[in-house]
Amino acid sequence: MADILCIGAGYVGGPTMAVIALHCPQHKVTVVDINEKRINAWNSDHLPIYEPGLQEVVERTRGKNLFFTSDHIGDHIDQADIIFVSVNTPTKTFGRGAGRAADLQHWEKVARQILEHSNSPKIIIEKSTLPVRTAQAMEQILNSNPSNIHFDVLSNPEFLAEGSAIQDLQNPDRVLIGGHGTPEAQQAVETIVNLYANWVPREKIITTNLWSSELSKLVANAFLAQRISSINAISALCEKTEADVEEVAYAVGTDTRIGPRFLKASVGFGGSCFKKDILNLVYICEKQGLHEVAEYWEGVLKINEYQQARFVAKMVSAMFNTLAGKRITLFGAAFKANTSDTRESPALVVCRELLAEHADVVLSDPFALENAKADLGADASKVTFEADPYKAAEGAHAIAVLTEWEDFVTLDYERIFASMVHPAFIFDGRIILDHQAVFDIGFNVYPIGKAPKQHFHWPPTNGFQAP
Ligand code: NAD
Ligand code: UGA
Repeated sequence: MADILCIGAGYVGGPTMAVIALHCPQHKVTVVDINEKRINAWNSDHLPIYEPGLQEVVERTRGKNLFFTSDHIGDHIDQADIIFVSVNTPTKTFGRGAGRAADLQHWEKVARQILEHSNSPKIIIEKSTLPVRTAQAMEQILNSNPSNIHFDVLSNPEFLAEGSAIQDLQNPDRVLIGGHGTPEAQQAVETIVNLYANWVPREKIITTNLWSSELSKLVANAFLAQRISSINAISALCEKTEADVEEVAYAVGTDTRIGPRFLKASVGFGGSCFKKDILNLVYICEKQGLHEVAEYWEGVLKINEYQQARFVAKMVSAMFNTLAGKRITLFGAAFKANTSDTRESPALVVCRELLAEHADVVLSDPFALENAKADLGADASKVTFEADPYKAAEGAHAIAVLTEWEDFVTLDYERIFASMVHPAFIFDGRIILDHQAVFDIGFNVYPIGKAPKQHFHWPPTNGFQAP
């Protein structure tokens, strides 16, 4: 039996450790965090994050072999044989590399804490997403210990996606474990392989050198985001040419070399990681003097910003070039469906841009309103938050669909249309509605990547330039 500790009880640390505890009842798993409120929530019936299936896994393991605590972190470090480090690594907001580089202050603090409290050898695992070669810094800090305690530092990046975290953890495409080639390090790698082998088939557990593992995580996110930016770039061309982006994505994605997934055009990708990890990749490339490579990946982010700006520009021009004083209802605040997470959500970008147009914005979401309020900061006071989509749409001039919640697909749009100001508009930033059906009800419909369905001709096509 090993004593497993995870430092950081966030979106990754909490669910990952819950699944490890579920499949490895022989091990004791403790999750610590400096955020006491978060730990209290993990110990309550209202977990700090919403993930389908998470509550059940936590209920089956908590108090048996899974423990959440913010007390005596040093003692837990000392007792642990294996320490996963899953702290946040956001984009740096100050000093050198501000706006691009990863902020490693939490990471380094943890390294020093481990050094201070350890009295026995340990395997330290990078679970957070980190710049390539970060493990070297961790090793240098840990090896500065005067008592010569042996630490093996491994990389085991996490590939779960929010909204499907439990499913992804239970049945991952792969588990990646990177370590040095020394016999000690390889033994540590084998220990972690055996841990995952409790439920993951061996052929899905990949082992590589440390740097490949660290870099693969950044590259996987960059490739995923690149596919979304690629189809979003094409969605702009579809709108100009009356090609349909869903038909194009299907036709392209049926080529087995390309594949169908991650080709859903949208108002843009959000989430805490794609942007930060690509910014970090760009920064690393620049520091290595690889300017062309940096510029290539930066393009993925530029298209994402363009897509969000383009969406708002379309709303303004379709609604007679003014949104001032108009009630606009946003369906969705979360950055994707099935999560309450609003970090980098395109919905909040659109919300802020509409506020800048002096629109009267109403935000509706089944799970994410609390986080949206916090993330909007001072702007929150200018927004109405309404969980009930029917109430949210009452008296609105327009609806914009910004998160692909199934709840929004199955609403009674006849009822909604009857309660709105006419002409009524729907902007579908997720391409989830039945556009013909809502058009037939009376809406003017503007889906991403498709020709609009309008009951009138605006902007005029007779050569008159709209003001
Ligand atoms: P998060 O912000 O939800 O959680 C991180 C937690 O670490 C916070 O609760 C914070 O209080 C805690 N923490 C920071 N310093 C600490 C310290 N010294 N001691 C104890 N606790 C400390 O972050 P997250 O979304 O879980 O992401 C964590 C890492 O995993 C990041 O590097 C991220 O890029 C990566 N990642 C995230 C996801 C995701 O879906 N969110 C997926 C894969 C990888
Ligand atoms: C992403 C990756 O999918 C995970 O593998 C990775 O572990 C994680 O980042 C991370 O490192 O944090 P996540 O951001 O949770 O996971 O969610 P995704 O499903 O990747 O969606 C990201 C964004 O892209 C969402 O806003 C989503 O709506 C958007 N998206 C996704 C599209 O617009 N179109 C698509 O076809 C797919």
